[in-house]
Amino acid sequence: MKTIWNESVVIPARNHLPGNLTVDTAVIGGGLAGILTAYYLSQAGKQTVVLEADRIGSGQTSGTTAKITSQHGLIYERLQNTIGKKEARLYASANQKAILEYERLIRARSIFCDFKKCSACLYSVSDSACLQRESKAAMEAGILSQFSKETELPFSVKGAIHFPNQAQFHPLKFLEAVSSLLTIYEKTPVRTVKQDKHQQILSTPYGNVFAKDVVFACHYPFPLIPGYYFLKMYQKRSYVLALSNAQTLKDMYLGIDKNGLSFRSAKDLLLVGGYGHRTGKSVQNPYQALRRTSHFLYPSSKIQGHWSAQDCITLDHIPYIGRFSSQSPHWYVATGFQKWGMTSSMISAHLLTDLICGHSSVYENLFSPMRHHVRASAMEFLTHAMESGKGLLSGIGPQNLRCPHLGCKLVWNPSENTWECPCHGSRFDCQGHLKNGPAQKNLFSS
Ligand code: FES
Repeated sequence: MKTIWNESVVIPARNHLPGNLTVDTAVIGGGLAGILTAYYLSQAGKQTVVLEADRIGSGQTSGTTAKITSQHGLIYERLQNTIGKKEARLYASANQKAILEYERLIRARSIFCDFKKCSACLYSVSDSACLQRESKAAMEAGILSQFSKETELPFSVKGAIHFPNQAQFHPLKFLEAVSSLLTIYEKTPVRTVKQDKHQQILSTPYGNVFAKDVVFACHYPFPLIPGYYFLKMYQKRSYVLALSNAQTLKDMYLGIDKNGLSFRSAKDLLLVGGYGHRTGKSVQNPYQALRRTSHFLYPSSKIQGHWSAQDCITLDHIPYIGRFSSQSPHWYVATGFQKWGMTSSMISAHLLTDLICGHSSVYENLFSPMRHHVRASAMEFLTHAMESGKGLLSGIGPQNLRCPHLGCKLVWNPSENTWECPCHGSRFDCQGHLKNGPAQKNLFSS
């Protein structure tokens, strides 16, 4: 997958694991969440190693639009109504702190990563009432929020809410700088993790890593049991075009209407994203739809690149960050970031470092993967159960191509030339090679 981020930065390759190794903490996954968690654990004095199945930053960190923001769609009103005002305030404060911490770290380490402070803006072309309610809820949660009818976009809106002091950056320039301080082994897939009496044993093709604690920061955690993440998380795919000769935006934008678009500038390019869908649900050509809309909005623009990214969606729309399960006291997880991987990665790094170092955190309960927010999760739970049931049932039959994860019927996505699983979002290229988990095997491996 070539994106504007990995076309402009080449991160030096690392070797695979040289053999058996004993450390304090093993982090599985070298995306932003894994690298930041390893960084803060190392700063706290923990001997930490990152094990990456491919190359660091080669997954969703390359495909993100890299908005560092606490504005996550219409989340604050929903949180207030489903889990409470106190929790909405905690969610806001965790994300606002994450933005400040990026700024502090980037300054402290003199990281040149095109970091830029700007506003984040939600807009609607059809409804202003829900934006006004969201703005009020965000203010009550402690975030400065301004409602207006003005944006920089080339169409009129019914309403928009602006959060000032948010940010954007080049994710791979940042990742490269932070990762240079860490011990990382690439092309080292972790096959299994076993709990022993005093340690965790991670097996890889090149040897075992023995660790006191293990962090699953591999996008979608692969163990089925414990944790049962396949019951409470699915994936969504969305699409991005990079346009030249379009418009340079000062701020970042996200539409909340059906097929609302995301906009942000990156130097002289404009990134336009949207047309997301549950992975494995066949849709009409999303790139064509994006191209058509972009051409309508910016008739002189030229497409300089396109790519897609995949996000894990939790049932209550809050990431799962914390202890993996009650049966695995030394396992931790960072996943389910929705589309908000930048702030969620920083929250994960701090929260997991606190927990692994034996400190308490005010955010532990809010993000705990073991929480049960029945009211907030009901709709997504029913939809996920229905989609998974359908996928499993249609996977029965010898002629169907079945997912090696749990056997759902795979669906061809012609826009990406991939086989995709509607149950939990595993993806395979046209030759059957695994591109995204939670499956761990290629399609045709014995
Ligand atoms: Fe779970 Fe395919 S990803 S069955």
